[in-house]
Amino acid sequence: MERVTSVVVVKLGGSVVSDKKVAFSYRERVVRALGKAMASSRLPIVVVHGGGSFGHTVAKEHGLSSAKSSPSTKGVSETREAMLRLDAKVCASLSAAGMHPYPFSPFTLLDREEGGRSFIGRLITAGATPVTFGDVVHDGKGFRILSGDTICVELADLLGAARCVMSVDVDGLLDERGEVIKVLGENSTKFSPLRKGSRKSDATGGISLKVREAMRMASSGTEVRLVSGLRPAEFSKALRGVEFHGTTIKVPHGVSSG
Ligand SMILES: Nc1ncnc2c1ncn2[C@@H]1O[C@H](COP(=O)(O)OP(=O)(O)O)[C@@H](O)[C@H]1O
Ligand SMILES: [Mg+2]
Repeated sequence: MERVTSVVVVKLGGSVVSDKKVAFSYRERVVRALGKAMASSRLPIVVVHGGGSFGHTVAKEHGLSSAKSSPSTKGVSETREAMLRLDAKVCASLSAAGMHPYPFSPFTLLDREEGGRSFIGRLITAGATPVTFGDVVHDGKGFRILSGDTICVELADLLGAARCVMSVDVDGLLDERGEVIKVLGENSTKFSPLRKGSRKSDATGGISLKVREAMRMASSGTEVRLVSGLRPAEFSKALRGVEFHGTTIKVPHGVSSG
């Protein structure tokens, strides 16, 4: 039986599963191709997908974000309805690709006492792929978006993930000239959000939050790889841990979140 210790957390970016510029546009062929790569890798995988033009579109209409909490119960219901519609599509594509998705809301991860680790572990051992997504949660004061990127950190920590592969609609982390930064985290490399980024259509922190969360994972021992989800061959290499076209995120020696 496969051990769960080598689990890979895979983020299917909202910019990959949908076209963020077109409301409610789902990329069936793309998700199916990535599903095939995951199925043929035979790796134990947990999938997290973003909201793309489903979640972000509706969340923004209601002023929901990850930055501050909101009292809008109507916004919560409509945003979650859109996310669950997207999740159903993602799971159907993964099934068609030969995977056995088990969708769950990430709020179950917030309460660690419920044995989330052993339940997710049991699913993986049984040959299923746990699938979760950016969601709306109550933080005690109001409703807030829980970004898929933040969920990756929680899962990587909970499962002691060896690797996290974050797919996006560009070739990795780009420098100001638009070229791929091969390794981020070394003293010499700099990163800044590009001016024509996806800020406007994003209810969470966009690329800046993604990099911050990737650094958190890297500092606790999970190797993080940013790769294009629109290039299944590169995604497949990133997944299997071999050389790929994209960005590896490393934390400089001596910096650790403990
Ligand atoms: N320096 C950068 N490197 C890579 N992508 C960037 C950068 N600055 C801005 N972006 C934008 O960030 C987007 C990815 O972040 P985001 O839309 O939040 O992805 P996701 O949907 O996976 O959460 C890319 O589509 C790109 O346009
Ligand atoms: Mg995002």
